[in-house]
Amino acid sequence: MSRIYDALRRASQERKAGQQTDETVMAEEPFVLAGDEDIPPVKAEVVIEEIAQQPWNPFMAFLPTLAERGESIEQFRSLRSQIYEFCDQAPLKTILISSGMPAEGKTFVAANLAMSLARNSDNNILLIDADLRGPSIHAILGAPNTPGLAEYLAGEAEVAQIMQRNRTSSVGGADLASTIPNLTFIPAGEGGDNASELVANHRIEELIATLSPHFDWIVIDSPPVLVFADAVDLARAADAILLVARGASTPFDVAQRAQAAFSNSRILGFVLNAVKNAPRNRSYYYHYYGKQKTGSEAQERRDNRRQE
Ligand SMILES: Nc1ncnc2c1ncn2[C@@H]1O[C@H](COP(=O)(O)OP(=O)(O)OP(=O)(O)O)[C@@H](O)[C@H]1O
Ligand SMILES: [Mg+2]
Repeated sequence: MSRIYDALRRASQERKAGQQTDETVMAEEPFVLAGDEDIPPVKAEVVIEEIAQQPWNPFMAFLPTLAERGESIEQFRSLRSQIYEFCDQAPLKTILISSGMPAEGKTFVAANLAMSLARNSDNNILLIDADLRGPSIHAILGAPNTPGLAEYLAGEAEVAQIMQRNRTSSVGGADLASTIPNLTFIPAGEGGDNASELVANHRIEELIATLSPHFDWIVIDSPPVLVFADAVDLARAADAILLVARGASTPFDVAQRAQAAFSNSRILGFVLNAVKNAPRNRSYYYHYYGKQKTGSEAQERRDNRRQE
């Protein structure tokens, strides 16, 4: 694993320096991005009220923060309060959710943190699925996955085309439209094998810069940083990183290496996910959520896809 990690770090650093190694060429199929002149410039006019409404059908089991009450609501509320406090220390709006390895709970935390932020006030929240290799937030929201970030980064869709809001008025007995009218979602789209080139092409930074004035919080989900370098590229567009470790599952050295991968970024801390009892010492882990649960069928499908 450390060889993979080191290779990824090296490739990422070299890409930043404008070089490309033989390794990266061999690892990926040749992929030609449209030249800058072919990609339409980012349109600065974003009118929140004009964002397309889609009939979402949320998977309530993975969105405990949408329920009326429950332990998870409290735990995410607590995380939200911590984040508000971080905001007092230094400007904070765009948060990238990351972890070292698959299935540690990045997507779970990203989706529920966004819900928690959205439910707290009239603030406008933007949730972005930037895991172009294994998108899953659309499945949790029951929302379309295309056109999405991948199409935007490839210059095939404009910003207004990739944003969506919920149109459904009632889901599982909950009046969802009235609880999250302020949540906007950008799905991952179909990045497939070209994910790393798309994420590295700097359009993501332009996109965030364009959207930032229109939102109070932006939460970005990402692929595991010790497996793919995408999250390191995505970090350039974020104000800070929130790391996730899974209780009784994430080895300490994996958490450490995940943290080290973001040495150039502001790290807010670790969410210790899926444990029953929170540690009292908050020096390393400062939050915890929900119960331990084995991966779903959808998760296994995604893991298989990653291994192919
Ligand atoms: N606190 C929790 N309580 C219950 N289920 C959870 C919790 N955290 C994660 N899960 C479940 O565990 C599985 C893996 O979580 P998730 O998809 O969020 O991980 P991930 O880090 O995003 O994985 P990947 O890197 O593959 O995208 C999912 O089925 C998810 O619903
Ligand atoms: Mg995920």
